[in-house]
Parts: sequence; C-alpha cells; structure tokens
Amino acid sequence: MSTLIALRNDALTAHGDALDSPAKEKAANRGVYNCRSPLLLRRIRQLFGGARVNLLLSLCFLCLVFWFTSRLGSWMGWNPHYPSSAYSPSRGGYTVLINTWKRNSLLKQSVAHYASCSGTDAIHVVWSESDPPSDSLKSYLEKIVLKKSLTAHKPNFMFDLNKEDNLNNRFKPIEDLRTDAIFSVDDDVVVPCSTLDFAFTVWQSAPLTMVGFVPRMHWLDGEKNGVMYYNYGGWWSVWWMGTYSIVLSKAAFFHRKYLDLYTYNMPSSIRDYVTRERNCEDIAMSLLVANATDAPPIWVKGKIYEIGLSGISSLQGHSTRRNKCLNDFISLYGTMPLVSTNVKAVDVRHEWFW
Ligand SMILES: *[C@@H]1O[C@H](CO)[C@@H](O)[C@H](O)[C@H]1NC(C)=O
Repeated sequence: MSTLIALRNDALTAHGDALDSPAKEKAANRGVYNCRSPLLLRRIRQLFGGARVNLLLSLCFLCLVFWFTSRLGSWMGWNPHYPSSAYSPSRGGYTVLINTWKRNSLLKQSVAHYASCSGTDAIHVVWSESDPPSDSLKSYLEKIVLKKSLTAHKPNFMFDLNKEDNLNNRFKPIEDLRTDAIFSVDDDVVVPCSTLDFAFTVWQSAPLTMVGFVPRMHWLDGEKNGVMYYNYGGWWSVWWMGTYSIVLSKAAFFHRKYLDLYTYNMPSSIRDYVTRERNCEDIAMSLLVANATDAPPIWVKGKIYEIGLSGISSLQGHSTRRNKCLNDFISLYGTMPLVSTNVKAVDVRHEWFW
C-alpha cells in the first residue's frame, strides 16, 4: 500500500500537484487509488472517473465469466449446440418409421426433418390408404431426403404400402432393415436431431427396452370378484405422481424384433381388438415389450414438437376408451405385465445444477 501511494505521489508531483497536505493524503487513501492494481488499470482509472471505472471493470469481469463458462463446455468436449459426441455413426443408426394418414403436408415436413438427422439410416413411411401415394409426392419426398441429409451416407427412403387403414400396419415387420433400432413416430411429431441422437444412445445401452418421450402410467383402481381394475393415466397423472409404466410409440425407440413379435407372436385377439377399435396399438406394444422384458420403459427428457392440429387424445371420451383397452388387454394376458418406474434419462450436457 505504501509503495502504491508513493508511486501515486510521484506521478502527481511530476504534474506539479503534490499531496502536500495531510487532508489530501487522507482523501487519496480512501479513494480509488486505495487498492493494489497493475499499472495499466491505474492508468485507465486516471483516464476515467473512479466509480464508473469500477462499474466498467465489473462488467468486463462478468463478460469474462460468461465467456469462460460458455467455452468450458467445448474445452471439456461437451457442447450442447452440436450433435452428441457420444453418438458415433460406426455403431449403427436407426430406422425412422413414420405412421401417416392423409396428412401429406405434415408428412413432407417430418420426412424433411428426419432426413437431416445424422443417425437416420432409413426412413419408412407406413401408408394405409386404398390409393397408393402419388408419383409427385413420392418424387418430392425422395428429393427432399437427398437434399436435407447432411451425411455422406444418404438415408434410404421407402413407402410401406397397405391397402386398408389399420393401426396394426405401423408395427408390420420391414424387409431388408439395416438397423436394429426403430424410431417409431407419428407424422405430426418432430423430435430435434440432437434430442433424438441422445435418446438413441439411451436405447443402445438398453436395446430391449422401449425408450421414448411420451410417458403414461397405470394404477390399480380396485378389485371386483377377484378381477383387478386398472386406470390409465395421461400426462397430468404422470406429472402428479412422478411415475410411469408406458412410453407411447408416437415417439419411441424399440428393437426391430418387436415388430415380428407384435405381428406373429402376440395373441391375434389383441390385433383384432386394435383393428376393431381403431385405437390402442401403442398400449398393446407397451404390454408386449413389458411382458417380454419384465422391465419398465425409459422416458427420455427432451422437448418434442407436435406440428399438426391436436390429435385423437383431445377427443371426448378418450380416457374411457384407453382405460377399457388397458383392462381388456390385461385380461387377455392374465397378469399385469407393466412395470412402473421413476427413472428419467437426462442429457448431462443440459443439466447445470447437480
Ligand atoms: C408373455 O411372456 C411370456 C414369457 O416370455 C410368454 O410365454 C407369453 O406368451 C407372453 N404373453 C403374451 C400374451 O404374449
């Protein structure tokens, strides 16, 4: 401190304004000179007023802190703004299986989006109309896949044609699949590529499990004459109870073998039920996987976007129908295969507070 003041005094003396009175010296000691700082800072402080400089320096310091923390991610090899470094194409990608029905503009948007994701090995569109897709739609989609794909390996694009409108179509086995991973998605659901790649890495660590973004739950409602009755719970129930036992196939990864199991091994009465009720194919798939694994699905945290108008789940009486499906399927199984869990997979790169 004394050296600093001495220096300061020398400088002032050189300008013919020495701190000759004790009062002035006291004032100087209290003021901005009153801290140890490098020569450059003192020069800056001499140029500007004291308080303003302190504010400026504080701002600079904050900027530095912001810059440092924002760089920290990339220095350490995790950066939320670029595709997951955990994902490597050499470990195989996934086949995007899009279920569509008479919504060509949505289909164009979602095909364009999924073609741009680096993990997409192929895109299959499940088409369930008596008329096949028009040549113009076909060529449009083939072109957009080539254009949007950012990788050297261009995804295969294919329509899987079905004459009749049947929800079981979406789980028909696919010939010449190159991946074990299926990402099953509705034509109006868009999952950002980075989120999708992250969910894929979750699936890779548990390839027999269903890994998805839309959790649902069940709970025991009561018992009548030895028969258990269950309730099917939607988004609000999951939020309130913090537990789930289903992820919906409107946005979920599962192993390709479940397509075969669904179509050839699952009791045909369940497929007939889905055909008749035009609903609940997703519950049937969840029960199938739960029965095969004795394990819960995995819910992955991530924002997904519904690009169309609100779908069937907002229709009146939806939850009554879902309840009925669940209970009817369970009575066909004879037991309750669903397993509840509280686990949610999150991307560490997006979690700042541990
Ligand atoms: C449930 O799993 C068991 C054991 O894997 C299997 O034998 C049974 O057929 C499955 N039940 C149904 C209804 O698929």
